[in-house]
Amino acid sequence: MKFGTKTIHAGQQADPTTGAIMTPIYQTSTYIQNTPGDHKGYEYSRTGNPTRSSLEQNLASLENGKFGLCFGSGLAAIDAIIKLLSPGDEVISTNDLYGGTYRIFTKIFENYGIKFHFIGMKKPKEIECLINKNTKMLWAETPTNPMLNIIDITALSEISKQYNLTFVVDNTFATPYLQRPLDLGADIVMHSLTKYMAGHSDVVMGAVICKDETLAEKMYFIQNSCGAVPGPMDSFLVLRGIKTLHLRMQRHCENGEIIANFLKDHPKIDNVYWPGFKTHPNHEIAKKQMDDFGGMISFNIKGNKLDDAITVVSNMHYFSLAESLGGVESLCGHPASMTHAAIPKKEREKTGVVDSLIRLSIGVEDVSDLINDLKQSLEKL
Ligand SMILES: Cc1ncc(COP(=O)(O)O)c(C=O)c1O
Repeated sequence: MKFGTKTIHAGQQADPTTGAIMTPIYQTSTYIQNTPGDHKGYEYSRTGNPTRSSLEQNLASLENGKFGLCFGSGLAAIDAIIKLLSPGDEVISTNDLYGGTYRIFTKIFENYGIKFHFIGMKKPKEIECLINKNTKMLWAETPTNPMLNIIDITALSEISKQYNLTFVVDNTFATPYLQRPLDLGADIVMHSLTKYMAGHSDVVMGAVICKDETLAEKMYFIQNSCGAVPGPMDSFLVLRGIKTLHLRMQRHCENGEIIANFLKDHPKIDNVYWPGFKTHPNHEIAKKQMDDFGGMISFNIKGNKLDDAITVVSNMHYFSLAESLGGVESLCGHPASMTHAAIPKKEREKTGVVDSLIRLSIGVEDVSDLINDLKQSLEKL
């Protein structure tokens, strides 16, 4: 199957009892057994649920993986992945990453004896100086949140293989429509399905996808033992959302390109961060590993005043001021006080998350309305 067929059909068959074309919501916690152990493949819904299984198979197929596992949120998926590690182990992570990921690493897992190093990964070779005998995992987000840096997945996977590290890519911003990290050598892909994958801002969920059976068995063990699984209704919503992933992503990318170019030429704007620009430091890598450049854009305002950023985000009509991203509706956010508030000011400023930075999640509305909205809001400055 090609990608646009997989989104609609992978992991899904018409219901054998009724012929229902949509995967039913199996709202059940348990399943009848004829004699102990004699059942139809399901025993208890923490361990497995048919609606969730359909979604898990669909995700594995979209990422060209073999195994998919869903969790109650993106952070629950991250939590499960880090539980592959033991006290004393070390992780090398991108320094420009979602604030909640930084928080779970530093405020939760450091208490359990796991050590995290944060480094810009624009030049992969620089990572090697942090690798020692305790290093077990490499963690990358690409494009990064919110600076839209691009990390070379193939180069990192070569390093991870050389040093026998588990290489995890958070593919939330790109989705498998734009980028398939497992094909480029990553061991694990994780998602906040809450974003583009579900696509309609109506569900919170996460996922882990891999190819290796031993790794998958460990992840299933953690999923079942720790139990942070999503319910069948939410699994249904994500399955339904994914059916239009390719159509939505195409429009997110088209609108993104038009808006990035509009912002670049605006006299009140300083820098625009979008990997599609030829001047973007890793544009060539983006072209190599992504099929298009996505609908996430960040920019900062000339003079770098916090109040200016607040004025702009508070005066938009179609860009709703809200946490999150990747829904059909456009959103704007102020990372320094919202998504990245968990990262200390000194630390976030090193990566470019300055006070006037604004992050846009470009929706699939009519792009001329979006441009007019940005224009009128910037005129308030
Ligand atoms: C890149 C990235 N990874 C992970 C997460 C966490 O996902 P969730 O909010 O579904 O727990 C987010 C949430 O914003 C994100 O943007």
